[in-house]
Amino acid sequence: MLDQAKQLREKMIAKKTDGADRKSIKKTRVLAITSGKGGVGKSNFALNFGLGLVENDKKVLIFDVDLGFANIDVLLGRIPKETIASMIEKDLAVRDIIEKGPKGLLFISGGNGFNELFQMDDHKLHKFFQELATLQGEVDYIILDTGAGLSYENLRFILAADDVILVTTPEPTSITDAYSVVKMVHGKDPNVHMKLVVNQCTNSKEGQRTADNFKQVAEQFLDKEIGALGSIPNDSHVPEAVKKQEPLMLAYPNSESALAIRQIASEFLQLRVPYKLGLKGFIMKIFFK
Ligand SMILES: Nc1ncnc2c1ncn2[C@@H]1O[C@H](COP(=O)(O)OP(=O)(O)OP(=O)(O)O)[C@@H](O)[C@H]1O
Ligand SMILES: [Mg+2]
Repeated sequence: MLDQAKQLREKMIAKKTDGADRKSIKKTRVLAITSGKGGVGKSNFALNFGLGLVENDKKVLIFDVDLGFANIDVLLGRIPKETIASMIEKDLAVRDIIEKGPKGLLFISGGNGFNELFQMDDHKLHKFFQELATLQGEVDYIILDTGAGLSYENLRFILAADDVILVTTPEPTSITDAYSVVKMVHGKDPNVHMKLVVNQCTNSKEGQRTADNFKQVAEQFLDKEIGALGSIPNDSHVPEAVKKQEPLMLAYPNSESALAIRQIASEFLQLRVPYKLGLKGFIMKIFFK
């Protein structure tokens, strides 16, 4: 594994300095959407937030890395021709598995069997991440829809991403689980940039209150600043869109929840967070940790 990792690093450094890698001038940020508790609305948020960025002329790729229960394709009502699992199995290029979603949104499906990613042999893992690296400069954002909780794989995705959006609901169980994620991540790397989104709020006051409390606790006990990007109301249009297998932003573009997500996307785009290493940094980190 270490030998493979060393080779990959050397190849990447060589590529960076040979002058041919001009595409890397355009930066690709990797953004992980995660949560402590499951079922809080990560996948719906990832998809619709991605569309919110597309509305702002950003090129976005959603990468479904929920290793057990990948379902972005289901939310889009699409049956992907290829998945990460089949890419690895059939030795395909990453471009062969990118699907075109609505409004130019791109996505990659996990597919069954993707949960073996980190147990793959070194050669396959090396090949997979090398393929992924070719997307550098092709898109503005890669959004990772992760699984819930603190699995080994999730932690690696979170620690390697440029930005992390932590989704919680106002329920105490969801908040304490989100806090556990912050504590664990902060313990491993205090520089991870995390923002909170409060989903399924009864009203905006509840969202604000939840975010304020969370911020205060993280500051007091971890000396970690976690600002909120905003809150999303509990809105029956979300499950309605799921049933129609159409993204909320397209099925109900003027619903309260779609407006809130649009607002969160524009809030996110106004953040001036220093760019870490983007896609290549993500791959390096995920491979070496
Ligand atoms: N703002 C909202 N208002 C009402 N229902 C919502 C809202 N957001 C999400 N939901 C509902 O919550 C359920 C879970 O959503 P979703 O699958 O996006 O969660 P998740 O966090 O990705 O779950 P998992 O942890 O299993 O991956 C869905 O049935 C969805 O319709
Ligand atoms: Mg999900």
